[in-house]
Amino acid sequence: MPVNVSAVKPRSLEDPRLEGRAVKRIAFDAQTISSRVRELGDAITEAYPDGDLLVLGLLKGSFIFLSDLVRQIHRPLQVDFLVASSYGDAMVSSGSVRLVYDPETTLEGKHILLVEDIVDSGRTLSRLMDLLSERSPRSLEVCALLHKHVAEHLRYPTKFVGFDAPNEFLVGYGLDHAENFRHLPYIASLQ
Ligand code: IMP
Ligand code: MG
Repeated sequence: MPVNVSAVKPRSLEDPRLEGRAVKRIAFDAQTISSRVRELGDAITEAYPDGDLLVLGLLKGSFIFLSDLVRQIHRPLQVDFLVASSYGDAMVSSGSVRLVYDPETTLEGKHILLVEDIVDSGRTLSRLMDLLSERSPRSLEVCALLHKHVAEHLRYPTKFVGFDAPNEFLVGYGLDHAENFRHLPYIASLQ
């Protein structure tokens, strides 16, 4: 998908959800997101003709995307969540990821689809995938709403991508800035 960045005048005055923060532009509006999520649901439905499918949402950023996405997947599935926490210095590549909430459902023998809000450096993802692959799933893939395509050494390709994202700081539709703006129905880049 091409980057769809429409120049829209700052919405801070129009949208009370923004607390007066100026938004540079709306990167993806609600309509665009909704039709892309429907396409992703169709692609995922087709990709898993059989077997048990467990959709694993990485909290918190994926919560809105996941809830819309699973309703567009037309086959049986289960939903669970992961909460990951970096310890050590998260900016250092030798740092590691710890699961603060570990899925209660068993992963063994199931198709696991890890759902992420956005892939940036890809570090979070790589470490989680290492960890999940040790649990003998039947398959292990990633679905990310947004992909910045800035990571140089992604060890796990993202099979399903909603949109190629501009290399800007994005908020809304689950993505936050200091826990704010997750509830925006569109995705915007902050000034
Ligand atoms: P990575 O490990 O660098 O790929 O970081 C991925 C995580 O960083 C995502 O799951 C987001 O929580 C956060 N993140 C990265 N880029 C953005 C952004 O533009 N807006 C909001 N959160 C972001
Ligand atoms: Mg975040």
